[in-house]
This record gives sequence, C-alpha cells and structure tokens, in this order.
Amino acid sequence: MEELIKPYERFAYAYDRMMSNVDYVRWASYVADLFKYYEYEPRDILEIACGTGSLTTLLAGQGYKMQGLDRAEGMLTVARQKAEKQGLDIPFVQGDMLNFNLQQRFDVVLCIYDSINYAVTESDLESVFRAVSRHLDVSGLFIFDLTTERNIVHHFHSQTFAENHNDYSYIWKNTYSYQDKICHTALTFFIREGELFHRFEEIHTQKIFEVNTVKKLLQKTGYKMLSAYDMYTFNRWSRHSDRINFTARKEEEIEQ
Ligand SMILES: C[S@@+](CC[C@H](N)C(=O)[O-])C[C@H]1O[C@@H](n2cnc3c(N)ncnc32)[C@H](O)[C@@H]1O
Repeated sequence: MEELIKPYERFAYAYDRMMSNVDYVRWASYVADLFKYYEYEPRDILEIACGTGSLTTLLAGQGYKMQGLDRAEGMLTVARQKAEKQGLDIPFVQGDMLNFNLQQRFDVVLCIYDSINYAVTESDLESVFRAVSRHLDVSGLFIFDLTTERNIVHHFHSQTFAENHNDYSYIWKNTYSYQDKICHTALTFFIREGELFHRFEEIHTQKIFEVNTVKKLLQKTGYKMLSAYDMYTFNRWSRHSDRINFTARKEEEIEQ
C-alpha cells in the first residue's frame, strides 16, 4: 500500500545518506568568507529550512549562536539528534519560512541548498523576504541561494534516480515545465519496518526565479541586494551558473 505524505517527513530517514556528496564544510567556509568580505561579525544566526541541521551544527561548532527552523518535523528530529550527539545546544523549531514569528532578531538569516525554491510564486518569495526581515536587525544580512533553470534542465528534468539499500530504497523522478518554471519531483520510498517495507510517496514542487525578480522583490521588502555570485565564488553569476548565492542587507524596517 502506498501512502502520500508531506515533503521531507520520511525523506528525513535517509536524507543525510542521500546527500553524502554535499560538502557542508565548504558551504560553512563560504558563508564565513562572505562575512569577512562584507566586514561583518555576526553572533546570532538563524537558519531557515535548516533540514537535518548539517550546516547549523557546523557553524555552531565554530562558535556562532545558531537557531534552526524547518517545516518538516522529520528533518528537525534528525537535526536535534545530531546537535545532541555533538553536545551542541541549538533550538530547532518547526515553522513555515513563508510566515514565521520567533519574536527574536538575528544578525544573519541563512537559507541554503535550493530551499528557497520551495517558495513557488513571487508572492511566496515576497512572504519569505518579509518574514526574514521581521527577524533581522537593520544592517543584518540575509544569505540564500537559488538553483537555476540550467541546473534543473541539465541534471534533473526527465531523469529518474534510484538506489537500493538494506533498510531503504527510493525512486526519484523529476519533471520540469519550461512554461511554469516549475520542477515537480516524485519521490517513492520503501523503508524497512521489521520484515516488511513500507511504501511512502512525497511530491516536491520547486520554482525557478530570475535574478531580476529576486532583486526587485528584495528592494520592495527593504533590502539591498549586495551580490548574486556563482555558488562558492565571488564571481558574478552567469548563464553557466547551476546555483546562485545571494547576499542581501536589510536597509530599513518595512510595514508588514
Ligand atoms: C533541499 S532541503 C535543504 C535542507 C538543508 N538546508 C540542507 O542544506 O541540507 C530543503 C528543506 O527545506 C524545507 N522547507 C521546504 N519548504 C519549507 C517551508 N515553507 N518552510 C520551512 N522549511 C521548508 C524542507 O523541509 C527541507 O528540510
């Protein structure tokens, strides 16, 4: 029997193993390099869509005071276990990046690894920018990345990935609509429960945004876009970029 569940709730079980190729150490070092580049020395950092807390725990280990937020409890459970194992005290809270209110301000908000592509309309993206602004001091930085159409078309569209392990298997199918700039991913998991495997299905939807749209919405919500770099570099993005890293500075308080 198949069960359709919310994105990332069961994916969490295998997420870290499926992402073992992702270099979070490099990511942490890139973020720290951006702080240096902008001559900024943050202390309190919020990571939204933090997932299983791989970057959150790395940055906490480097002395930053971290907090994580994600929509999927399944991912947060793994994040909390990871922090506890490393003796790190990090609050991981459940919330929607489109509309959260922690009643707290931070020096920096981070959102990495294509997570902001889960805002699927311009209005959703604007909501994320507004929610983040509520949690930033003026002059605070919002650092996030976006996956590009090039990445989706070259590496995911019409492609199916599958793996078979002792305790789980998955089939991962991707379809991109050029017209809507939307990528649909159907993930089918078979997770061992005793002698049997339970089948779960998750549907993920991600949107591709143009840099100009991002810039326009950042300005509208009180930020200045400082840079849009090819990922892990300090080079301006280009049509060859698979992922673009944005750094924006909050310039003013906006009416919410
Ligand atoms: C590709 S994963 C990245 C996780 C983590 N940032 C990392 O680098 O491993 C995308 C994450 O975004 C989260 N997410 C998607 N939509 C969200 C929303 N509206 N609010 C909060 N988290 C969301 C998912 O639950 C998932 O953990």
